Amino acid sequence: MATRLHENLQGQVALVSGANRGIGAAIATGLAARGATVYAATRRLAAIRETDGILPIELDVTDDPSISAAIRRIERERNRLDILVNNAAVYDDAHGDLVVESAGELDRVLAVNLRGPILLTKAALPLLLRKRGSRVVNVSSGSGSLSDGVDRDAPAYGISKAGLNALTSYLHGAYSGKGLIANSVCPGWVRTDMGGPRAPRSVKKGAETPIWLAMFAPGSPSGHFWRDRKIIPW
Ligand SMILES: NC(=O)c1ccc[n+]([C@@H]2O[C@H](COP(=O)([O-])OP(=O)(O)OC[C@H]3O[C@@H](n4cnc5c(N)ncnc54)[C@H](OP(=O)(O)O)[C@@H]3O)[C@@H](O)[C@H]2O)c1
Repeated sequence: MATRLHENLQGQVALVSGANRGIGAAIATGLAARGATVYAATRRLAAIRETDGILPIELDVTDDPSISAAIRRIERERNRLDILVNNAAVYDDAHGDLVVESAGELDRVLAVNLRGPILLTKAALPLLLRKRGSRVVNVSSGSGSLSDGVDRDAPAYGISKAGLNALTSYLHGAYSGKGLIANSVCPGWVRTDMGGPRAPRSVKKGAETPIWLAMFAPGSPSGHFWRDRKIIPW
């Protein structure tokens, strides 16, 4: 299926989780630069400055009332949502295999990286499905790759990202007939708080393919895992 992009995002509304730093901040800025009104979500409103096209919105993806309140605000203020970027995530604190992983750490990582995106997407779907061609971009990771093998030293993180890819597949299967375009993307290894200073990629580079996927016009590919604008195996 051929890829077609919107020329710009004028008039469109996006929600980006974890937009106060790292790749999420770069995705939010990139979407705003292309004309979208971007709800830049953060756990602490003071962490994001309101500018042209960027509206800070409070959202903790592990807090169900916070999810409902964020979606209600977008509906009240804009009555539309064209793009949802599930970007917020945490990495396993304990580096080690499953034997050393604590149940608490497992719960924490799965709550942010998997349960959060599932429930945020569930809450956003009625708005997203109001018209054909809305996009869900799930910021995943090669750490969750089933074909390469899930990250051995970060089991909760890797398994959460495999689960996030399953969410993408589910969304494609259940809603592509209604026009939803859902894709996963690995940004590569990026210099952020999570990626660390040794990572080879800039935040701008890491945000490139997520932004490109958010620009997909109706009829573009859905239900895939991408890196550097190419489909990669799950
Ligand atoms: N960096 C890499 O090398 C790399 C590689 C592959 C995939 N990724 C993926 O890329 C995405 C962005 O990663 P990053 O490197 O930019 O990470 P980061 O710099 O650590 O930023 C993570 C973001 O997630 C937010 N967040 C954490 N818990 C949250 C919660 N409960 N509710 C809402 N927001 C929450 C953080 O907000 P606070 O400031 O409030 O904590 C922050 O904005 C993630 O999905 C990550 O898994 C990154």
